[in-house]
Amino acid sequence: MKESCRIETLKPDEVGTVVSIVKNSFEPLYLIPSIYRGDGIAHFIAAELQNPYSMYRYFVLYEGDVLAGYAEYKIFENTSTAFLNIIAVNTQYKNQGIGKKLFLYTKNLFEKQGFGAIALDVYESNTIALNWYYGFGFIKTDTTPFYEVNPEKIADPDGSICLQNYPQYRVVQEQYGFYFLDMNVGGESFRIGTIGNDAIVRGSYSDRLSRGLPHIRISLQLDKVYFIGKEIHPDFVFIDRINRMELKINYDNKKSGEQGII
Ligand SMILES: CC(C)(COP(=O)(O)OP(=O)(O)OC[C@H]1O[C@@H](n2cnc3c(N)ncnc32)[C@H](O)[C@@H]1OP(=O)(O)O)[C@@H](O)C(=O)NCCC(=O)NCCS
Repeated sequence: MKESCRIETLKPDEVGTVVSIVKNSFEPLYLIPSIYRGDGIAHFIAAELQNPYSMYRYFVLYEGDVLAGYAEYKIFENTSTAFLNIIAVNTQYKNQGIGKKLFLYTKNLFEKQGFGAIALDVYESNTIALNWYYGFGFIKTDTTPFYEVNPEKIADPDGSICLQNYPQYRVVQEQYGFYFLDMNVGGESFRIGTIGNDAIVRGSYSDRLSRGLPHIRISLQLDKVYFIGKEIHPDFVFIDRINRMELKINYDNKKSGEQGII
């Protein structure tokens, strides 16, 4: 690593800079299901930095005086996995080895801490990032389609709609720009993510939900609805595929039964 380059953990006065790096560095499509799109993400990260038991790990890379790279991980001790939520390099500094230094530094750190794997999600069409990850030895473990949901017409909801967490939704959505809606449609329970004005449905899209969603969308003034999951439905318009990738780390230690310190 060059003398001019240093990697540190994120400090509160750097949060605005890293959020703008992420917003400018990514294609907007790749941020659709990301909380970095919400207006309140800087408040969320600032609050998380005060969490003494946080699952998040934030890193910044400085090239001289310039904050040029940023990475956010979420750690899952139950699966010994560090999940790379975001890695982004300031657009003017891309393709100069900065992402690589930042990734290898964090990989070594998690390795030393005894983690067994790094995992991440990357869009199939983000070929620069996809090939970049293959270069580090990541392998694809799963792939899930990503759709926009366009209901052709509003049907009667199948049973009554109950929204169970509206007061919390209003406050958190206003503060952080994302949250979720816990609802019940005709006796079936659903949790729907919200980012900005859009709704993100994950995993399952039942007929009940498909009939209730257009009503919910209008009543709550939601804009677009997206679905990430393996089901198919006539309302879905394909956007891309999201690949889950994994890199085993600390493999030799794990084989010999040695436990790392987390
Ligand atoms: C993906 C990303 C983090 C890589 O960081 P980077 O600092 O630009 O990449 P590096 O300089 O470390 O890249 C090294 C390799 O990637 C390849 N690469 C990087 N940018 C490239 C580009 N624009 N076009 C083609 N190849 C590219 C190079 O071939 C290079 O390989 P080499 O070392 O064998 O020459 C960065 O491009 C980025 O911020 N992208 C937008 C956000 C994103 O998509 N993040 C990942 C998804 S979560």
